[in-house]
Amino acid sequence: MLLNKLIVVFLVSFLIVNSIVAENPYRFYEWNVTYGTISPLGVPQQGILINGQFPGPDIISVTNDNIIINVFNNLDDDFLISWHGVQNRRNSFQDGVWGTTCPIPPGKNFTYRLQMKDQIGSFYYFPSTAFHKAAGGFGSIRIFSGPFVTVPLPAYSGDFIALIGDWYKRNHTNLKAILDRGHKLPFPDGILINGRGPNGASYTVDQGQTYRLRISNVGLENSLNFRVEGHNMTLVEVEGTHTMQETYTSLDVHVGQSYSVLITADQAPKDYYIVVSSRFTSKVLTTTGVLHYSTSNSTVSGPIPSGPTIEVGWSLHQARSIRTNLTANGPRPNPQGAYHYGMINTTRTIRLATSAGQVNGEQRYAVNSVSFVPTDDTPLKLADYFKIGGFYPGNIHDVPIGGRIHLNTSVLQTDYRTFIEIVFENKESIVQSWHIAGYAFWVVGMDGGHWTSASRDQYNLRDAVSRSTTQVYPRSWTAIYIALDNVGIWNIRSEFWARRYLGQQLYMRVYTTSTSLQDEYLIPNNALLCGKVVGFHNKTILN
Ligand SMILES: *[C@@H]1O[C@H](CO)[C@@H](O)[C@H](O)[C@H]1NC(C)=O
Ligand SMILES: *[C@@H]1O[C@H](CO)[C@@H](O)[C@H](O)[C@H]1NC(C)=O
Ligand SMILES: *[C@@H]1O[C@H](CO)[C@@H](O)[C@H](O)[C@H]1NC(C)=O
Ligand SMILES: *[C@@H]1O[C@H](CO)[C@@H](O)[C@H](O)[C@H]1NC(C)=O
Ligand SMILES: *[C@@H]1O[C@H](CO)[C@@H](O)[C@H](O)[C@H]1NC(C)=O
Ligand SMILES: *[C@@H]1O[C@H](CO)[C@@H](O)[C@H](O)[C@H]1NC(C)=O
Ligand SMILES: *[C@@H]1O[C@H](CO)[C@@H](O)[C@H](O)[C@H]1NC(C)=O
Ligand SMILES: *[C@@H]1O[C@H](CO)[C@@H](O)[C@H](O)[C@H]1NC(C)=O
Ligand SMILES: *[C@@H]1O[C@H](CO)[C@@H](O)[C@H](O)[C@H]1NC(C)=O
Repeated sequence: MLLNKLIVVFLVSFLIVNSIVAENPYRFYEWNVTYGTISPLGVPQQGILINGQFPGPDIISVTNDNIIINVFNNLDDDFLISWHGVQNRRNSFQDGVWGTTCPIPPGKNFTYRLQMKDQIGSFYYFPSTAFHKAAGGFGSIRIFSGPFVTVPLPAYSGDFIALIGDWYKRNHTNLKAILDRGHKLPFPDGILINGRGPNGASYTVDQGQTYRLRISNVGLENSLNFRVEGHNMTLVEVEGTHTMQETYTSLDVHVGQSYSVLITADQAPKDYYIVVSSRFTSKVLTTTGVLHYSTSNSTVSGPIPSGPTIEVGWSLHQARSIRTNLTANGPRPNPQGAYHYGMINTTRTIRLATSAGQVNGEQRYAVNSVSFVPTDDTPLKLADYFKIGGFYPGNIHDVPIGGRIHLNTSVLQTDYRTFIEIVFENKESIVQSWHIAGYAFWVVGMDGGHWTSASRDQYNLRDAVSRSTTQVYPRSWTAIYIALDNVGIWNIRSEFWARRYLGQQLYMRVYTTSTSLQDEYLIPNNALLCGKVVGFHNKTILN
């Protein structure tokens, strides 16, 4: 409740400040990243803390805010933070992944300068280097609508976070070592809600009030089902898009995805289970949290409400029911349906098919037969920016080429201001989840079987949801439309973290010959330089 009051205070002070000054507000953070002992599943293990916290601090912002975060790396390892779903428009230098940003060395710091430009919604941040994500270092990001933009939401009394994810009792160095030896990871040990094990996460509500709950799957591989005993959820927002407000008894949240729901405390005042369980696994992992009515005298008891487990059709049906509210405002006082994405002709189709296999006797994962490896210690973006000669990353084919899996640094070359179609093809029996940094895209279709051009007949060209992470069901495809309006080099990755680590990712270079700052910013003046660009501060570095 304190947090909710803080948010209200924050929003009120924002309104006052914003009515006086014209420039978008700045919000400053200083983060100290350290190791610390955590024991979310009852076993002490090494975790990554931010300012002593696991999960890390919340970022609470308003559309167009400038968020300045000075990150001090006190680990014994290079470190980077990536801002999942934050688009960093014109500024891929801030994205915080291997291909865009030099890592922060141990004992050093780097100040990220983000702008929540033209965005609203629920997102999160996470550590992108090594296998740090398995140790924590993640936290929530909220972007509220600006003061003159009406939102299609009833007033709600509190704004809660549920960072859910599968979890290992092993530390991240141990997990990384397994992958580095060319093996697969074992099955996770449990599921956490906000870094807590069974009944550790509790949400206090007043009877009769309605609450917003922002759910993000920050885990490593498992799709999760989220439900609240005795309460329905009204879906209101998906990764920055206001949705048609449908009611669900439970919601599938695939790795990397975020949803906002409204929950009304309209039941008898007692404690209710919040349940999160793994989907599509033969052994079902389950954890619980608590929805606590403030006047409740009893603790949770009785059987834990069951949910879907291996049913794929159920999940596909639910995914198709998630649609954009075309008349609701987005980040601007402008209906989301004003951009008629379905009436724009795509100029290119890229089919990305995933596969798994061995290279030199070690486990690898590939996209169009290429298993991604970082070439050296020069981020692609900086090599590109400083026009390093002799730097030729591998271009990835637009269609699956078959053949043996091979290693390369895959880059998808694309042109600024084109409108393209990407089809993610999954021939395996696992659920995939794909994220594109710097962008939101329309999820126009998904279905079982092979994608063909005839599959376009079933596309939703009217009110598909625009988001940054989409699932691809087993032996299925998912098609997206994307407007390439953000110059830079952007990570396209599987959110299945072991698969990303062992090659299932690539970078998309969105290129223009323009050097206008309207199209892309200069490299920030505090940028860390590494690899082949060490000492290149002699080139123009402004900002
Ligand atoms: C970060 O935390 C460590 C351990 O608590 C401490 O030694 C260090 O001084 C802190 N650094 C900053 C910049 O706060
Ligand atoms: C990580 O786990 C391994 C064993 O699984 C252990 O040997 C090592 O000390 C642990 N590292 C830390 C920093 O806790
Ligand atoms: C590191 O932190 C100091 C302030 O403590 C700041 O002046 C400096 O710009 C930061 N370095 C980077 C690279 O952001
Ligand atoms: C869509 O948004 C409009 C405008 O804010 C709102 O009046 C309407 O109730 C919303 N419809 C649904 C189904 O969410
Ligand atoms: C939840 O929704 C279902 C289906 O719409 C309905 O049957 C049920 O009564 C609702 N439950 C509550 C607690 O509102
Ligand atoms: C909880 O206990 C208090 C005091 O014993 C009682 O007044 C109240 O009615 C109880 N509330 C419920 C929901 O049972
Ligand atoms: C899209 O392509 C169709 C068929 O080639 C053409 O008739 C139509 O004018 C094009 N639409 C736009 C907006 O370019
Ligand atoms: C990567 O692919 C490029 C062609 O796109 C090729 O020239 C290069 O040799 C490949 N690198 C490796 C390590 O195979
Ligand atoms: C900048 O410095 C690097 C390394 O010192 C050097 O190789 C490069 O030629 C210099 N570039 C310019 C434009 O002076």
